[in-house]
Amino acid sequence: MADDLDKLEAGLHELEPIPTHDQASRNDEAPTKEPKRTNVLGLSQHSAIWYLARIQKYSTYAFSAFAAMHVTTTSIVPLVTQSVPTSEPYLLLTREYYQSPAAEPLMVIIPMYAHVFSGLAIRVLRRNHNAKRYGDAYSKENKASFLTKFWPRVSTISKLGFQFIPLLMGHMFINRGIPRMTQGGSSNVNLSYVSHAFAKHPAISFFGFTALLGVGCFHITWGWAKWLGWTPEQVTSTGAQRELQKNRRWYIINGLAAAFTGLWMAGSFGVVARGGEAPGWVGIQYDELYQMIPILGKWM
Ligand code: HEM
Repeated sequence: MADDLDKLEAGLHELEPIPTHDQASRNDEAPTKEPKRTNVLGLSQHSAIWYLARIQKYSTYAFSAFAAMHVTTTSIVPLVTQSVPTSEPYLLLTREYYQSPAAEPLMVIIPMYAHVFSGLAIRVLRRNHNAKRYGDAYSKENKASFLTKFWPRVSTISKLGFQFIPLLMGHMFINRGIPRMTQGGSSNVNLSYVSHAFAKHPAISFFGFTALLGVGCFHITWGWAKWLGWTPEQVTSTGAQRELQKNRRWYIINGLAAAFTGLWMAGSFGVVARGGEAPGWVGIQYDELYQMIPILGKWM
């Protein structure tokens, strides 16, 4: 697994080993000293990028567990019960695992920041390596061009990740931030809070959730494909087989991502979105919460 990640980080393909001559013994030179691979504690030494890549990868395990619970309670359970009120207790049940004071930072907040910032840090370190390799790292010109030159390519997965940030932040702000600021918690917020928004503001709700689910599900599916070494770029075969395998992988991963998005949308749009407006004071409270959304709140 660790070896795979090293190769993956470097974007390398596996090649047949080519024998090399032992330069030192041929030239009667003293053999070069073996590089030191362990520290005083006997632990292996790795580069900062090595550690950051692992933080970027393993932080997604916690978030994936949260996503699995969330898709279950906001889509699969409503699909099975075909009723918003019957599905509510299941949402409350799993909240304990991701919304309690101890669980929320461990399950959602810290992994999310760790994942995004480790990715950005890797990008800066790689950029600086490139500047050293291909330019004069300490020149005035290099410093001046920090924002424009030597940056690693932004993969499609990363592009989806960057688009996911504002969508997820917006979703968290509406469902956790606003209720917390105004009511000290989101115990009043449940599936019927979402049904209410769809009933009163269908266009913006469909648009927002379509973007959130589409971008999120494709990022997560392609992300997992990368961790498992299954993306088209990670095909190791050569020759005619290579293009065929790359195409096949591209279709399979996109198919899985579309199925994941479709599953989440089926319960959310098919059942939760059709739950209708919340009656009485609950509905008034929901309206007040939605009106606190910056800019859009004016029209809600
Ligand atoms: C839950 C499972 C997730 C998985 C499996 C996952 C997987 C990945 C992978 C594999 C990359 C590296 C892409 C590459 O190097 O080409 C990546 C990058 C990224 N992810 Fe995620 N991710 C997940 C969740 C999230 C979440 C919740 C967010 C945002 C809030 C996010 C935002 C990002 C961003 C911004 C990048 C780009 C970092 C960079 O390239 O500098 N990801 N993700």
